[in-house]
Amino acid sequence: MDYQHATLDFSDDSEQAKARRRGWITAVLRGFREESPGDELIEKWVTHYRADAVTVRGAWLPEGEFAAGPMPVATYASFDKTLNAGRGLVPLRMITDVTTSASHRRRGLLRRMIEDDLADAVAHDVPVAALTASEATIYGRWGFGPATFNTVVELDTTPGFSLRSFDDPGRVEVLEPADAWPHVRTVFDAFHARQRGSVEWPVQYGDIHSGAFDYDAGGPNRKIRTAVHLAADRTVDGFAVFKHGEDYSLVVQEMIALTPQAQLGLWDFLARTDRVKKVTFNLAHPDDPLRWALDDLGRLAVTGQRHFLWLRLLDVPRALAARPWASDGAVVLEVEDAQGWAAGRFEVTARGGVATVTRTEADPDVVLDAETLGALYLSGVEVGAMRRAGRVAGSDDAVARWAAMADLADPPYCLTGF
Ligand SMILES: CC(C)(COP(=O)(O)OP(=O)(O)OC[C@H]1O[C@@H](n2cnc3c(N)ncnc32)[C@H](O)[C@@H]1OP(=O)(O)O)[C@@H](O)C(=O)NCCC(=O)NCCS
Repeated sequence: MDYQHATLDFSDDSEQAKARRRGWITAVLRGFREESPGDELIEKWVTHYRADAVTVRGAWLPEGEFAAGPMPVATYASFDKTLNAGRGLVPLRMITDVTTSASHRRRGLLRRMIEDDLADAVAHDVPVAALTASEATIYGRWGFGPATFNTVVELDTTPGFSLRSFDDPGRVEVLEPADAWPHVRTVFDAFHARQRGSVEWPVQYGDIHSGAFDYDAGGPNRKIRTAVHLAADRTVDGFAVFKHGEDYSLVVQEMIALTPQAQLGLWDFLARTDRVKKVTFNLAHPDDPLRWALDDLGRLAVTGQRHFLWLRLLDVPRALAARPWASDGAVVLEVEDAQGWAAGRFEVTARGGVATVTRTEADPDVVLDAETLGALYLSGVEVGAMRRAGRVAGSDDAVARWAAMADLADPPYCLTGF
């Protein structure tokens, strides 16, 4: 089939362009097994994508072909924001809306779009690409590895719940989501600036967290509530966006705290809400202080853990120089990369937590592929774990040296879904 690949200009308001973007959005929702879109959803989608300057790609059937029309048979979108790599923010190509119609799958449509897009990221000096994956088997072939993991927790808040001698110097206040939004945004910005692994929020988060729009309902979200935590000096240093769920549960949609006290203050508040038997959160921080602050640690269950943020390095020297290093040392790294962008040998020399990275022809100490490098990039996976899985080659000494440099004490954390 002679598919027509094209990018859509979402700022074009001609009737033909409108029909094509409605078709494109409908195709995305069909791919993710969602309902067809209403007018309000389309309007929001277009507004958000314009604001984020999203590049919208698709593949259409050729004109005259049976079923040809404004609706594409494959969709793909991407935009550039930032990733906190540990020593600052780096540009990040964020990939989303990847679908191929069931009747056109496995014919190379995704391959064409993702390879075009990654080449474009390289041309625009974007050093890292990211996505979240519905299946773990799809994106390794393009050099993406799972770099952060989400922890799903469930807290039993039935009578008897208590924290050990927790004395909150601040307090919690419940606000209407729209009123809370400026505080939520401020807390997120501070968090994004300091948390390795954090990904900048797309524009749509403003509507989602303020309750202005719910993508599932296709209209305003009247169910969410926002609790903000005030520090002793009355500045907001944490928030939780939540809703009441079934069986007296309280479902946390988003929660960020800038201090352990704020984190515990928010948990304590949520847990003490009357007529709530459990609190659930799908994106808990791996170092959340809750477990060891509980009187009864059996009340906290980790009910799931899944790959979350997948990363792909496109500019190895720049990306590695943007992350911190745990100890001084030097290794020559060889990266194998089917697409070539990360391929080559790199001398990584770390001093005082900062690395200089240069291309070299020297013999490699450590050999790995782009997918493994993507998984190791934020140190959410330890070098030793990849070594034991047979994914990092080199002498024991060289791999141990690399591990001492690359494995960081604190985990990365990302809670931006896109
Ligand atoms: C995932 C999806 C977009 C793949 O699209 P596609 O156009 O069929 O993919 P391609 O034909 O370009 O496949 C390229 C390669 O990826 C492989 N691949 C594609 N989807 C795969 C999957 N789900 N699992 C394992 N391998 C997959 C193909 O076998 C092919 O491998 P090869 O080049 O080694 O032969 C499509 O299956 C889909 O729409 N799924 C439902 C929505 C979804 O899950 N989207 C992903 C969101 S993260």
